[in-house]
Amino acid sequence: MYENLSNFAEGVDTAFVIILSIILFFLVGLTVTLIIFIIKYREKKNPIPTPTKDNILLELTWTIIPIVLVIGMFHYGWIAFKPMVSKAPENSMVVKTDAFMWDWRFEYKNGRKTDTLYVPQGDPVKLELYALDVIHSFYIPAFRIKQDIVPGTPSSLWFIANAPGVYDIFCAEYCGLEHSYMYTAVKVLPKEEFEKWYTDTTQVVVVSDKPGMAGFQIMKDNGCFACHSTDGSKLVGPTYKGIFGHEVEVIRNGVRQTVTVDKEYITRSIYYPDEEVVAGYNKGLMRHYQGQITEEEIDKIVEYLETLGGE
Ligand code: CUA
Repeated sequence: MYENLSNFAEGVDTAFVIILSIILFFLVGLTVTLIIFIIKYREKKNPIPTPTKDNILLELTWTIIPIVLVIGMFHYGWIAFKPMVSKAPENSMVVKTDAFMWDWRFEYKNGRKTDTLYVPQGDPVKLELYALDVIHSFYIPAFRIKQDIVPGTPSSLWFIANAPGVYDIFCAEYCGLEHSYMYTAVKVLPKEEFEKWYTDTTQVVVVSDKPGMAGFQIMKDNGCFACHSTDGSKLVGPTYKGIFGHEVEVIRNGVRQTVTVDKEYITRSIYYPDEEVVAGYNKGLMRHYQGQITEEEIDKIVEYLETLGGE
């Protein structure tokens, strides 16, 4: 009926099926009883109501049976839930996970950063979760795991992925305008393949060889494209297309000004996004990237922006 794609899937599915079965049993049972009683005890057949008095047996029955059922539901729920909230195994691979409006960033122990989560099959993985701006929620439906992430309160979760494949990761907590676009995927690779991916640094070099590609990768890793397009279309923020070297209208301290998009402007926009907001866009939607994006990385970003047709 279903595959156990993570070590938690079976427990959650068992609890789900048991609870759903009990619900269905009572839904059908009560509905049928209701209909029978409506017909059997209708007024025409029973013009004078029969008064009922205490019925100890009946009262005990409808007290004890629900208690047993509810304890049963709790029992199976607890069996599924307890390992999730217990400590991750000592040998877990730790991945630092940043959630921000509106993307995910994963950082591995060797310094590698991705916007898709890569994990080995069969090994425990521990995610250390950080929210950089507002509350988000990390959710992999296929693995039956979900964890809220509150700014200032790091949380974590762990799992073992059982089968190679690509599975959805969603943000499951409304976090603003583009919440519904805050999704990515977890790629589960067989161990050897994962090792190869993990230790492979050639890819990065190849990427940075092409003009602007290093900058593109930095922006991708930081989720810039969630809010800024490269094709001229208007998203939460202005497009990158053709802005470099051009003039834009910004609101600074409430005053409309014209500025040229150069390296200084790009740096200010990344470090102090609310100080100059392009006319027609809203303040407070972009977080600052001080300490996240370095000056050298900004040089790369500028190189990339230049490829998008400025002058
Ligand atoms: Cu992040 Cu919804």
